[in-house]
Amino acid sequence: MKKQTAPIGIFDSGIGGLTVAKAVMEALPNEDILYFGDTARVPYGIKSQETVRKYALEITRFLLDRGVKMILVACNTVSASAKKEIIEMAGDVPVLDVITSGSEKAVSLKTHNEVAVIGTLATVNSGAYPKAIKQLDQHVKVRLKACPMFVPLAEEGWTDNEIAQKVIEEYLGEFEDSGIDALILGCTHYPLFKKSIETFLHDEHIHIIDSAESIAASAKQELVDRNLSNTTGGNFQCFVSDQPQRFQELAERFLGRELVNVEIVSMV
Ligand code: DGL
Repeated sequence: MKKQTAPIGIFDSGIGGLTVAKAVMEALPNEDILYFGDTARVPYGIKSQETVRKYALEITRFLLDRGVKMILVACNTVSASAKKEIIEMAGDVPVLDVITSGSEKAVSLKTHNEVAVIGTLATVNSGAYPKAIKQLDQHVKVRLKACPMFVPLAEEGWTDNEIAQKVIEEYLGEFEDSGIDALILGCTHYPLFKKSIETFLHDEHIHIIDSAESIAASAKQELVDRNLSNTTGGNFQCFVSDQPQRFQELAERFLGRELVNVEIVSMV
C-alpha cells in the first residue's frame, strides 16, 4: 500500500474518541480512518498510569500492524500517561495527541492569561496539561478541575437535561465570572457538553477549546508537511474490544452519522 493511501489510526479508551474521528472526517474527508475503542476496559480515567500505558501500547501495536500512516491519540488519559512510550513504539509513524493539540490551540489564541482545564482524575492528577501549556508559554496560569461524572453522563446521553445542568453547575461554578479566558475540554467525552457549558458560563469572552477540532487541524497540517495526504479515501472502519448493549446508538451520537462494520477484537 502506498503511504498516502494508508489509513489514519485513531484510538480511545472507548467511544469518546469518536468525537475526534468526527472532526477528522470533517477536516480530512478523503482519508481512510481506522478507529479502535477499548470498550471492554473503559474507563481509563480512574486507572493507574501503568495499566493505561499497557493498554495503550497494545492498541498502538494493533494499529501499526494494520499499516497506519499516522496515529492520533484521541484520549486525554492515554496522552497524559503514555505519550512517550507510544511515540517510541511508533518509530517513524507520526503520533499526535489531544493534550498537545489542545494546549497549542489555547496558547495560540494569545489573549490568555488564565486557562481552565477540565478532565478525568487521571488527566488532572498527571499534571500533563500545565506542563504542556507552560512549555509553550510559562506566563499562562492554569486551573485544573476533574469532572469524572461527565463520562457516565455522556455515555447515557444526558448532556443537556436537568441532571447534566446540575452537574455542570457543581463542577464549573468556580469558573463563572472568575476571569478565565479559555476552558479546555480535556476529555474526549466532554465536547458533547460544549453547548451546555457555554450556556452555563454565559460569557462570550471565554473560548471553549475542543481538542477534537484542534487535533484534526494539526493532523491535516502534519499530513501536508510530510506529503502523506490521501485524495481517494474516505472509509471509516471501527474496531472495539467489546460491543456493549447500547454501543451502536451511542457511537452514532458521538460520531454524528450511521456506523457500519463494527468489528470486535479481543485484547485480553
Ligand atoms: N476518553 C477518556 C479521556 O479523554 C475519558 C474516558 C475514560 O475515562 O476512559 O480522558
